[in-house]
Amino acid sequence: MSDIDGGSDAGRTDAGVRRDGGLNTDGGADAGASDAGGIDAGPRDAGPNHVPMVMPDILANRTTVYAGQVVDLALGVTDEDGDFLQFTWSGGGTFFENGNPSAQRWFSAETATPMTVTLNVSVTDGRSAPITRQIVINVTVPRFTDVYANILAVAPLQGGQCVGCHGTMGMFQIAGTRAGAYAQLVNAPHNRGAGCVNAGVPVMVTPGDVQRSLIYRKMTSTQPTACGDGMPAMSMVIPASPLQFIVTVGSWIRAGARDD
Ligand code: HEC
Repeated sequence: MSDIDGGSDAGRTDAGVRRDGGLNTDGGADAGASDAGGIDAGPRDAGPNHVPMVMPDILANRTTVYAGQVVDLALGVTDEDGDFLQFTWSGGGTFFENGNPSAQRWFSAETATPMTVTLNVSVTDGRSAPITRQIVINVTVPRFTDVYANILAVAPLQGGQCVGCHGTMGMFQIAGTRAGAYAQLVNAPHNRGAGCVNAGVPVMVTPGDVQRSLIYRKMTSTQPTACGDGMPAMSMVIPASPLQFIVTVGSWIRAGARDD
């Protein structure tokens, strides 16, 4: 071991000198064959690299979600050399970084049927081969209970975006009960008039058809002009519908807008 290290460090001017300053402590960690391979042999760095220590599993706060429900993901990694670590997360759906590239928040794409999604992360210190980990997430079709309790009926102070106005505005008072809200949406007429109907959006929700569902067209701001504004309506304080809410409402409609 020390022969190999000694040889490759000798006469090199690179960081290996600094990094290998404590050759004694290095011996153990480098003993594995992997480090002796071609990885460190390049002229860029003759010092012995330590492959990042990557936990075997991606941590997730849940592995079964309804479409649009957010999963918190994290991968535990340390690198003895303090190398810069590059993380690459991939898989269907949407990732957004959660404070650090080793942690992400994720939600699925819209789906009309249950599915499993395999998410991957690969991590590299730029010197050794990327190490990959996987996790399988089960995605279910959102129930109307989820749509109502987690999106439509959530008060603004709890992060909701609809009831703040739709109690008093827009001729659409979101009902105080789940059953009431279902009845006012599915195959229910809207108040945007014949212009909107003739533009191809006949009701609030058409089971199985997001294009003919006013609530979806407004949440995605793809409504015909005759159907009024996108939702949430232009407001200084309420941001556009987060994509995960659209995924939940859209999946529920695509799957038939069931009363469950
Ligand atoms: C800032 C206030 C405001 C917010 C927030 C808001 N809306 Fe609206 N909404 C309105 C107004 C005003 C109208 C009537 C004008 C129009 O249709 O463009 C309306 C109309 C609608 C209509 C048509 C109702 C009908 O019968 O014609 C739907 C559906 C709708 N909103 C859904 C939503 C949803 C879903 C949310 C939450 C994601 C939301 N809105 C958030 C103000 C708001």
